Amino acid sequence: MTNAVRLRTGTEAPPGHSSYRTYMTTTAPVPATAIGSADPYARSAGLDDATAGMLATRLETRGAQPQQAALRQAFLSRLPRRAGARVLEVGCGTGIVARDLAAIPGVASVAGVDPSRQFIERARSLSRDDAVLRFEAGDGTALPFGDHQFDVAVFATTLCHVIDPRAALGEAFRVLVPGGTLLVFDGDYATATVAQDRDDPLQACVTAAVTRLVHDPWLVRRLRTLLAAAGFVALDPESHGYVESGTATYMSTLVDFGASALAQDATVSAKLADALKAEARDRIASGTFFGHIAYASVLATRPYHTPGLPTSATAKLATN
Ligand SMILES: C[S@@+](CC[C@H](N)C(=O)[O-])C[C@H]1O[C@@H](n2cnc3c(N)ncnc32)[C@H](O)[C@@H]1O
Repeated sequence: MTNAVRLRTGTEAPPGHSSYRTYMTTTAPVPATAIGSADPYARSAGLDDATAGMLATRLETRGAQPQQAALRQAFLSRLPRRAGARVLEVGCGTGIVARDLAAIPGVASVAGVDPSRQFIERARSLSRDDAVLRFEAGDGTALPFGDHQFDVAVFATTLCHVIDPRAALGEAFRVLVPGGTLLVFDGDYATATVAQDRDDPLQACVTAAVTRLVHDPWLVRRLRTLLAAAGFVALDPESHGYVESGTATYMSTLVDFGASALAQDATVSAKLADALKAEARDRIASGTFFGHIAYASVLATRPYHTPGLPTSATAKLATN
């Protein structure tokens, strides 16, 4: 793997390219082994129905899990209560977080946007009776909304899948009112582990799964810098741990996914992949499974005064 390919996970453009996006569209295809190149969520607009359906079910299964529901309540509780709040969720998937947002007292409307038309269809069908919710197909880097339309914008386990997070944060800034709130919640997926020892072979499966499912597993570590570059004023990140001990419902799916991926790439034999999956089952059966992922949430504000704009212009924006 070349250094240029390694840069795929970073926000810096390789020399000679004005942005990572131009680099991606003007260079030869990135080898399938490049970190993040396979993330299906990062290219959700172009997924076939079978893959999108499988991912939609995966999202709903994850969302229904009690510990994941508790995580959502924890990061959503950080939002300041605003009567009549107009809320946007960027990268809403099948609408799990948007449905929770709609249930927060004082929230007047929730718009969910996602590039995947299949996810949007699923979100609509799961929220048919809720007049507060609406879902639209669209990309977070070119939101289908005018300026200053929302009081709150949320990214929930989405920004790490967005190929150009700077553009997505810039768009969130644009559609928020001055004084509006941004909440970003994401996995620090580089911490995902099931290892119980240095050489635990199940870790290779989880690492393979993260590599193939998350475009940028290190994103939250640069979030503060990215938010500041977009013009936001951010509070310190808050850490949220996800632990499965004894039994497992989510982390074991990462072992399965990663083992299959390693077999598909011929890194391991199908026989070994089955053995690795069986090892995870054995740990669950014997109550010895352990898995952990650190998540983080960051609350930020679009300030009333934007550097570069005269104060009078900022005041005018605030009245819109
Ligand atoms: C892991 S899912 C999270 C979905 C939802 N927020 C949840 O927590 O269930 C990541 C989402 O990011 C979306 N996504 C990827 N690239 C995007 C982009 N450029 N703009 C907006 N959403 C994007 C995907 O379509 C997918 O729905």
